Amino acid sequence: MRFPRLVAGLTLASALVLSACGSSEKTVDQQPTSTEGALIGVTMPTRASERWIRDGDNVKKALEDKGYKVDLQYAENDIPTQANQIENQITKGARALIVASIDAKSLSSQLQAAADAKIPVISYDRLLLDSPNVDYYASFDNFKVGVQQATSLLTGLKVLNPDGSPGTAKGPLNVELFAGSPDDNNSSYFYDGAMSVLEKYIGDGTLVVKSGQKDFKTMAILRWDPATAQRRMEDLLTSTYGSARVDGVLSPYDGISIGILSALKSGGYGTAGQPYPIVTGQDAEVASVKSIVADEQYSTIFKDIRELAKAAADMADAVVQGKDPKVNNTEDYDNGEKVVPAILLQPVIVEKSNYVKELVDTGYYTADQLK
Ligand code: GAL
Repeated sequence: MRFPRLVAGLTLASALVLSACGSSEKTVDQQPTSTEGALIGVTMPTRASERWIRDGDNVKKALEDKGYKVDLQYAENDIPTQANQIENQITKGARALIVASIDAKSLSSQLQAAADAKIPVISYDRLLLDSPNVDYYASFDNFKVGVQQATSLLTGLKVLNPDGSPGTAKGPLNVELFAGSPDDNNSSYFYDGAMSVLEKYIGDGTLVVKSGQKDFKTMAILRWDPATAQRRMEDLLTSTYGSARVDGVLSPYDGISIGILSALKSGGYGTAGQPYPIVTGQDAEVASVKSIVADEQYSTIFKDIRELAKAAADMADAVVQGKDPKVNNTEDYDNGEKVVPAILLQPVIVEKSNYVKELVDTGYYTADQLK
């Protein structure tokens, strides 16, 4: 802890000395803001999901392209491991930290240590909560992700037409709802966004949540675990469905959708006589895009994490240089201690009809990767 404080102190001291000098006396070598070779710590939650592997690689590359050294760590969803990784990065003298947390609230003492060492912190994709020591947030419009998931559930069920006008299906249609990990701040944004759309249709009887399980806590899947989602779907089929059919499942994430689809398959769905219900998702992971092409999963939400990585790297670069990073939201993300200035990118609904345009034509995947 002493070393980085000292470094930060020296940097500040040299900045003061330099700012006291006339600008004509500065040379390039004296610039206190030189970032070449400076270390940035990047911590990602897990390698269990393909997206975080890409996120880590993309952030690392974007920072290395700017001349930084990067310490990239994965914690395999183990909270103490992630806390240790951040402590190590502080000790190694990181000049900024980019953190995609496992549990939004469990890193407060590490964030305090970072603040004590004057190391700025950027929350990546998931907002760090209950700490004043979060400087910026780079993510997507998470409420909109939920709105889009619910909208594609409704278009898949033909309750809505793709243009938003009322579709041919009037219901009642049986649906079940899943939410993400309760310790991930995004999960409640996805849930709130989805419910803002679905409530009306549940209220007027077009959609029936046959299990009655509509509150966030009951439907949340700890750590986004596919096996937990599979078990919950199996339990729902056994306890609630008997000979009735489930027509739609709101799933917040592709890994959860895979678990749900395997439970449905074991329950006799996925045949000509008993097609799969409409199942949503998020992240456009390869296995789920293939599943969409095979008419199993109905949709996913594509978040271009190449852009997220760039945005986070630009933020880190700016803060290390003492500049204000670009943000586009200073209202919506209150972490319990402060409203964290954010850059929010736009998500896109992907279904079978537009996956080529969104995912292949944009170079996100090659056509071969999706075969
Ligand atoms: C969320 C993220 C989603 C999904 C999920 C599971 O925080 O926003 O895109 O990746 O975690 O990893």
